[in-house]
Amino acid sequence: MNSKTLAQHRKQLMRMMGDNSIAILPSAPVLLRNRDVEHRFRQDSDFYYLSGFPEPEAVIVLIPHRRKGQYILFCRDRDKKKETWDGRRYGPEGAVEYFEADDAYPITDLEDILPGLMEPCESVYYTMGLNPEFDKHVMNCVNNLRSKSRGGTHVPYEFVSLDYLLHDMRLFKHRDELRMMRKAAKISVQAHINAMKACQPGMYEYQLEAEFLCEFHRNGAGWAYSSIVGGGANGCILHYTENNQVLNDGELVLIDAGAEYNGYASDITRTFPINGRFSAPQREIYELVLEAQEAAVKKVKPGNHWNDPHEAAVRVLTRGMVELGLLKGNVRELIKQGKYSKFYMHRTGHWLGMDVHDVGDYKVDDEWRLLEKGMVMTVEPGLYIPAGIRGVKRWWNIGVRIEDDVAVTKDGHELLSKGLPRTCDEIEAVMSA
Ligand code: GLY
Ligand code: MN
Ligand code: MN
Repeated sequence: MNSKTLAQHRKQLMRMMGDNSIAILPSAPVLLRNRDVEHRFRQDSDFYYLSGFPEPEAVIVLIPHRRKGQYILFCRDRDKKKETWDGRRYGPEGAVEYFEADDAYPITDLEDILPGLMEPCESVYYTMGLNPEFDKHVMNCVNNLRSKSRGGTHVPYEFVSLDYLLHDMRLFKHRDELRMMRKAAKISVQAHINAMKACQPGMYEYQLEAEFLCEFHRNGAGWAYSSIVGGGANGCILHYTENNQVLNDGELVLIDAGAEYNGYASDITRTFPINGRFSAPQREIYELVLEAQEAAVKKVKPGNHWNDPHEAAVRVLTRGMVELGLLKGNVRELIKQGKYSKFYMHRTGHWLGMDVHDVGDYKVDDEWRLLEKGMVMTVEPGLYIPAGIRGVKRWWNIGVRIEDDVAVTKDGHELLSKGLPRTCDEIEAVMSA
């Protein structure tokens, strides 16, 4: 993210916080994977959104009413020996030089300095409970002030959740953020094409997963979430991630995989025949899901509400299921009673951004939120017909989901995940090329 965008984020947040307030935001903790092996560090999304600072053991402090020193970063000191073992650090000097902090201090000084910064404030913007370890530091600072209150020291009187302001901001993507989301989607689109081309009966699911990891990493990206590569019956398991089974001739494979680029996610699903040709029953289900997706994508425009795409997808899917004989009854009644969820049990999308299931409220004042320019969402209808359901044997073990990433524009939408085969014919053509 460029430094102008980061500065804009901080400025906007501080404007909304108002005077006499302070915001405190810790970086993500380092997580152990096993014994002394750590998970690769991934910065907290809110923290990254405001600072772009990539290290653990750091804290952002924002103080809007100060004329100088509104943005303070606490971080690890430089340390020659530790940097030799564990990697480079920016240190407080680097935080000022490269990340535009007004002031920066060693993280070890946090409890000495923070109480003094809090003291003149009425409100503390801090989200309790997410990081219990860090909650203790904040409490220590407040208690430090309380212990001096008889000597006239002021103590802030309210804690406000920072999420409330920050997550509404994150829902609306700036131009620079959209640029990164386009790039994440583009990398994922190429990876999906590579997987379609590489797929052969007899391969293992993890071998297709490898196509994604390779394409992500060679473009300086990583994965936004664990890839789902489900052949045959596994395509009917919504969060299948074992990816360790053989891909059988005559079956479909469902791949839900997306890159994360510079902190921004993509989230794309394609379902295609392992041998490169859709069978008639597979095509019947696929084309119905595709029709539902097209109807849903059309509803992504300013002024429509969040649930419009989902309702459009449910209408098409339910009508189609009745026509095929998967469901029996009156379409309207089946929708009203939620009977479609026998084969379509998830929603048609979610916000997308730094987190794959991104932040932002879906309802405001108990009403579905209206779509506005800058929001980004997935559109991902599906149908899942596991073996064993009576009367529908023709479609057993067919699981189809088609998922794309869509940004709301001034007068419609932009498909971020463009260029990826979507119709049966397009998929067959890529697979046979
Ligand atoms: N990949 C998770 C989802 O589609 O929501
Ligand atoms: Mn999704
Ligand atoms: Mn997905």
